Amino acid sequence: MTNFIFKNPTKIIFGKNTISSISEEIPRDKRVLVTFGGGSVKENGVYKQVQEALKGFTFFEFWGIEANPDISTLRKAIALGKEEKCDFVLAVGGGSVIDGSKLIAAGILYDGDAWEIVMKRDWTANKALPLASVLTLPATGSEMNAGAVISDRANKEKFAFYSQYPVFSVLDPETTFTLPSHQVACGLADTFIHVIEQYLTTTDQSPLMDRWAEGILQTVIEIAPQIRENQHNYDAMANFMLSATMALNGFVSMGVSQDWATHMIGHELTALHGLTHGHTLTIVLPGTMWVMREEKGDKILQYGKRVWNIEGSDRVETIRKIIDRTEEFFRSLGLKTKLSENGAGVETIDEIERRFEERKVKFGENRTVDSAVARKILEKVF
Ligand code: NZQ
Ligand code: ZN
Repeated sequence: MTNFIFKNPTKIIFGKNTISSISEEIPRDKRVLVTFGGGSVKENGVYKQVQEALKGFTFFEFWGIEANPDISTLRKAIALGKEEKCDFVLAVGGGSVIDGSKLIAAGILYDGDAWEIVMKRDWTANKALPLASVLTLPATGSEMNAGAVISDRANKEKFAFYSQYPVFSVLDPETTFTLPSHQVACGLADTFIHVIEQYLTTTDQSPLMDRWAEGILQTVIEIAPQIRENQHNYDAMANFMLSATMALNGFVSMGVSQDWATHMIGHELTALHGLTHGHTLTIVLPGTMWVMREEKGDKILQYGKRVWNIEGSDRVETIRKIIDRTEEFFRSLGLKTKLSENGAGVETIDEIERRFEERKVKFGENRTVDSAVARKILEKVF
């Protein structure tokens, strides 16, 4: 186990009818910028509950943060926040609204263009307004981490940057009952693969981290069919929501190495084809596992044995079975796992290879996933 510092300051308020508690969490003297997506919160009653809780507060609404939040939209929100002298941001929605709001919270206090914040990548030492969230989509973990991923559609780009943690996040599982089934599938996949990125590296780093990670993976596998059968199953949705938060809030990555190559390649698929984030990961991961099987072999075998109960005497054949089983799980969620099934052609592979070559990237726990390896991964899942 390597040295680490762990601090996660986000207060989680979890359960039924908890949205009203935001009135006790936000200081009364704040001028609150409340940010929303495209309107799902108006249909499921979340907006009404937020409005009710904010009675007596000075607040301003910004609507229209799209899935894969776009810099051009966020610039408008920043302008509104500056104009109204807002000093608190409340994000109401999924990961895109929360991520976008992290940039808004930083951008309101920044004189330059907000894209510069994204390109700086690490904004943690800089100023940002306090931010809180009401989560409506379990997937990204953004409600309890400092990351944010911002898109620039004009240039077909998508990059992550790091800013501040939310002060608090409200997680009411009932808000998820109205999610489209595709978003549920992508959220389950994103949760699963967040764990994989922090777990599927090398063995013997930390048995504790391994077992926490395997616990989340097994939970997601267990609840996925229950959720597909009945999305109004409160306990299943509650465990989904908590799994998603725990998968990317630092709890499974203490003192261990991390990969994230699948995510970095996945972001390019979203930037180029608009594919939903979690879906891109289900396409890429089987390729990453296969191409990186030499480096990751022992851990793949541990994962297969403990999570899927797959063992065998032939190492390569067993690894193949484990990857197939993983892909089968993604397909059981209703997701198509091949590039060619999702509108991407060879030119997509060429373009991603070109971009990675230009950026001189080196992803993965051993920094061995460069443009050529990314190409191999994508060819494997074509
Ligand atoms: O915009 P509205 O109308 O609200 O509709 C949204 C959106 O269309 C809808 N939705 C959300 N909650 C709903 C609902 N519809 C009905 N009922 C509800 N309760 O779902 C659609 C997708 O929402 P979005 O916020 O885009 O999804 P998600 O939470 O998966 O966020 C994806 C973004 O987060 C980034 C991704 O790259 C992507 O840009 N990520 C952020 C991370 C982080 N901050 O740590 C890590 C992740 O790996 C990921 O990269
Ligand atoms: Zn993700």
